[in-house]
Amino acid sequence: MDILAELSINPLNSGACWGVDQWSKNQSELITSISPANGEEIAKVYAASEQDYETIISAAEEAFIEWRAVPAPLRGELVRKIGDALRQKKDALGSLVSLEMGKSKAEGDGEVQEMIDMADFSVGQSRMLYGKTMHSERPQHRMYEQWQPLGLVGVISAFNFPVAVWSWNAFIAAICGNVTIWKPSPKTPLTAIAVQNICNEVLADAGYKPIFYTFVDSESNQLANRFIEDKRVKKLSFTGSSVVGKMVGVKVAERMGKSLLELAGNNALILDESAKLEHAIPAVVFGAVGTAGQRCTTTRRLIVHESIVDKVIDSLVNAYKQVTIGDPLDTNNLMGPLIDATAVANFEQTIQNAKEQGGEILFGGNKLDRPGFYVEPTIIRAENDWPVVQHETFAPILYVMTFKTIEEAIALNNGVRQGLSSAMFTQNLSNAEKFLSYAGSDCGIANVNIGTSGAEIGGAFGGEKDTGGGREAGSDSWKSYMRRQTNTIFWGDKPTLAQGITFNI
Ligand code: UN1
Repeated sequence: MDILAELSINPLNSGACWGVDQWSKNQSELITSISPANGEEIAKVYAASEQDYETIISAAEEAFIEWRAVPAPLRGELVRKIGDALRQKKDALGSLVSLEMGKSKAEGDGEVQEMIDMADFSVGQSRMLYGKTMHSERPQHRMYEQWQPLGLVGVISAFNFPVAVWSWNAFIAAICGNVTIWKPSPKTPLTAIAVQNICNEVLADAGYKPIFYTFVDSESNQLANRFIEDKRVKKLSFTGSSVVGKMVGVKVAERMGKSLLELAGNNALILDESAKLEHAIPAVVFGAVGTAGQRCTTTRRLIVHESIVDKVIDSLVNAYKQVTIGDPLDTNNLMGPLIDATAVANFEQTIQNAKEQGGEILFGGNKLDRPGFYVEPTIIRAENDWPVVQHETFAPILYVMTFKTIEEAIALNNGVRQGLSSAMFTQNLSNAEKFLSYAGSDCGIANVNIGTSGAEIGGAFGGEKDTGGGREAGSDSWKSYMRRQTNTIFWGDKPTLAQGITFNI
């Protein structure tokens, strides 16, 4: 396949990688990368062995000793070069994301752009790893804090954002002086291998050892479990379900490691009486249907004022009729397939459950009878407390419910276990401020007059409650990839103790 050649992927020689042309020789378990667009094999990749894993960890530990000594702005300069290399490969890598994951070509390119943005952000941040200075309470003492690298940072990413989420972690980790080890989803190994190639080539050209390592694990997750429990991995960033995330959080905590959890979302969008529907409807459709409903930030619940619900449903159904579904690499299509047959089965089971719990299907509800894993985008009239609505199904299913008062709408928004993203469309200042106040949305992301998905990298990304509490990408997320050290230095001639204590010997 042309894209694989363009991205220098040699699938049968790629289960684990610790540098340019340094690939696993393990040839046991094969993982097949399937195109969700037609169910056909794209390529086979070997899973890493235990020995590969050890090779990677040892190489990473060695690389860290050198990398931590590189001044942070120089680390930033290397990430700048990686950003440039990604710019050059954007079209091919975006196509591979689309081919392997199934999101539209525009969204595949958008995901690579998110990596490029993250590289740019990290370059700037590399000169801003600021610590504070404090005034000591003791005479002739100086007190300040500094930030040191952690060491090995592990990233376990999900299939839905197969490259961008890694870059949120890896580029920030890199400028902070860390080395990253990545376990991509076994559903999207090829995109990870492509990124690994691009990044390590830039480093090698600049005369550095690799600081990005990858191993592909089989569906059994045997190595992933070892990874989670590995004391050498100082920080573990995990993106995935709340059930698995809780297990990861506990296991990492047991060994006193640091974890960063980015788990399920069950994101709501509120439309009050004053909402501008010409802005809201496209945002709802993109939020619910984009990436075939497989974003953590996907709009899953629409909370509509009862006075406008009929109008909103009419407009939505009309818009849904225009959603073109098909091959994601065909730029005429707005929605691609789900990731695999299991995802389609989950979609069908959820529709069945929704019907049993009293849901009225307003649009869609069926799997499409064609090769690949396509389903109809679906709108269901539902109630917030139904089990099916409380649960995140990774599919384009939108539940519509109504409210009378703004307090009720906020209570519905918050009335789920997850707390990632939320949005309100309103022209009413008081409603907007209430939604953004301490008594408003309890989510990590709360937007006004834009949708729940498509966050920019400049802000910290993550959510509360069962979403796990982690924050990655922008703002001051970099701090969680470093260890803070408080330093007090005495430079005078009469030592003193803090808190006024005298201790004469
Ligand atoms: C995810 O689904 O895990 O905000 C990440 C968004 C994207 C990232 C989603 N920028 O929708």
